[in-house]
Amino acid sequence: MTPKPTPPTLDRRSFLKGLGTSAVAVATVQVGAMADELNKASALPTPQGPAAVPVSLTINGEKKDFQLEPRVTLLDALRNFSTLTGTKEVCDRGTCGACSVLLDGKLTYACMKLAIEVQGHDIRTIEGIAQNGQLTPVQQAFVECDALMCGFCTPGFVMAATSLLESNPKPTEDEVRRACSGNLCRCGTYPNIIKAVMKASGAPLPETNEVIRYGSLA
Ligand code: FES
Ligand code: FES
Repeated sequence: MTPKPTPPTLDRRSFLKGLGTSAVAVATVQVGAMADELNKASALPTPQGPAAVPVSLTINGEKKDFQLEPRVTLLDALRNFSTLTGTKEVCDRGTCGACSVLLDGKLTYACMKLAIEVQGHDIRTIEGIAQNGQLTPVQQAFVECDALMCGFCTPGFVMAATSLLESNPKPTEDEVRRACSGNLCRCGTYPNIIKAVMKASGAPLPETNEVIRYGSLA
């Protein structure tokens, strides 16, 4: 006859000992997780505002100090807290391109950036592109091609064209159209704007505006 297996015995002492070890293990894991959370939290930027805080911006190569509420956009900082009103406000919601600036050389809508978040970046506005009072080839071409009517959209288009020619000095007409497609001109000066950008790139100009397919401008 097979002997009956003896059930494992668990005396009070070993039960309590086991319980203690598990509790220590759980507590250790929890303390570790808590420490991770604390580390993560301390790596986050300290919340700022709502009152004005010091904000330092590098605009057209110059450091400028402001006191701004953290909710202030780069566009408002330029227009309302400094004298740089060349950057225009039209839609204030990232659709028209009138507020275009170069942020570290990249075309950016200033109404879509908080001033506080662009600290430490290089900001170039329409006021900062001419050197020693000399218009840039893009600005000169806008004048020569009569590429503006009311002129309100012009700084944004000039910045878009400047950005394009800095990265692609010999664009095709289609590339010019694409580069300007984030900018709107309510006066409808598109044909002359495209012509001006082509001229600034040194490309031969069409004889008339008829060859500018402004109807297909995105
Ligand atoms: S004002 Fe910024 S995109 Fe229109
Ligand atoms: S020239 Fe008037 S909005 Fe473009």
